[in-house]
Amino acid sequence: MGKKILITGGAGFIGSHVVRLFVNKYPDYRIYNLDKLTYAGNLENLKDVEDRPNYTFIKGDINDAAFLDELFATHRFDGVIHLAAESHVDRSIADPLAFINTNIIGTLNLLNAAKDTWQGDGEGKLFYHVSTDEVYGSLGEEGFFVETTPYDPRSPYSASKASSDHLVRAYHHTYGLPVVISNCSNNYGPNQFPEKLIPLVINNIKHNKPLPIYGDGKYTRDWLWVIDHAEAIELIFHKGKNGETYNIGGNNERKNIELVHTLCDIMDDLLGRPAGTSRQLISFVKDRPGHDRRYAIDAAKLKNELGWEPTISPEEGLRLTAQWYLANEQWLNNVTSGAYQKYYELQYDV
Ligand code: NAD
Ligand code: DAU
Repeated sequence: MGKKILITGGAGFIGSHVVRLFVNKYPDYRIYNLDKLTYAGNLENLKDVEDRPNYTFIKGDINDAAFLDELFATHRFDGVIHLAAESHVDRSIADPLAFINTNIIGTLNLLNAAKDTWQGDGEGKLFYHVSTDEVYGSLGEEGFFVETTPYDPRSPYSASKASSDHLVRAYHHTYGLPVVISNCSNNYGPNQFPEKLIPLVINNIKHNKPLPIYGDGKYTRDWLWVIDHAEAIELIFHKGKNGETYNIGGNNERKNIELVHTLCDIMDDLLGRPAGTSRQLISFVKDRPGHDRRYAIDAAKLKNELGWEPTISPEEGLRLTAQWYLANEQWLNNVTSGAYQKYYELQYDV
């Protein structure tokens, strides 16, 4: 019989791509998607797999320890792939507590449930924690994050993720829990909530709204196609070494302003607008407090040990992303109505 895997946060952006990959690729596995369905969780993301016999959705909160204990006692999962989190840096600046609760206490609750269920018998078991490159802090013009880069988190979000990484390692060393951690760079692609830069810019271009660029726009991120990330997670889940950490990156660094220029040009082309139209919407706005200057991942360990590399060129990925948002107007309208408008007004002072 195949494995029973609990995926947390499976209704979110990255989680939904991970769930789809496992459900499609492993018909003999049983995939349980545990998600609280916060503003960022959306079951529309999984319409194509929701009726599959090897897939079950469970609505629940990782902050509820008693609920998790019962869930683990009932299903006795073989593996956990933990993605549930509060994930947006700007929201963590406005409301850190939600990040402490879900990202730290929620992770601790899951670790306890796994430890108590597996009782020191780690054979065939794995707790896979999905983390971020932001735990390493900020780079200057040169250099890359490697797995041994010292932790230096600088936002409430990254501090909460760093804390959860430390707890996962502590449970490995103290209780022998079988774990792997991956720290990845900025993801992009279909189904990303439009609070994040790329879908926000696509949505605003569509509606001829200003494109807010924080500070001087020369902040740099390393963009990773979300399906490449899901495939890296699947590989590490099956082939990664117990106790190890793997960095995942897109090998695709862009200054924000360069990225937005590219997106503007793609959108002009797709919308049939004269070249240069969307660039006129660019608006430099006040900076994010504590804004990290540059992230860049060295993913050599993953390439050399497990053979993973990103498959898609940035231009191709950005075009596919823009096309997806234009083709999924209803999805975009649903997530940007209601609470999103309030968030947007507060965040951008409009
Ligand atoms: P997301 O915000 O799109 O989705 C998070 C999901 O977690 C949502 O479905 C939400 O409903 C669920 N969730 C939140 N709180 C919960 C709780 N208390 N109990 C159960 N479910 C809860 O996030 P994402 O961008 O898909 O990120 C997924 C993971 O990957 C996160 O751990 C994040 O830190 C990490 N990560 C993201 C990126 C990125 O670029 N998006 C990069 C590196 C790492
Ligand atoms: O590096 C991995 C991280 O990437 C993940 O851990 C986070 O969950 C994810 O949200 C992402 O964090 P960032 O803060 O880098 O992503 P965001 O899309 O919010 O911003 C990307 C860059 O664009 C950043 O330099 C801030 C800038 N930005 C963002 C927004 C929303 C703007 O200039 N204007 C904006 O309106």
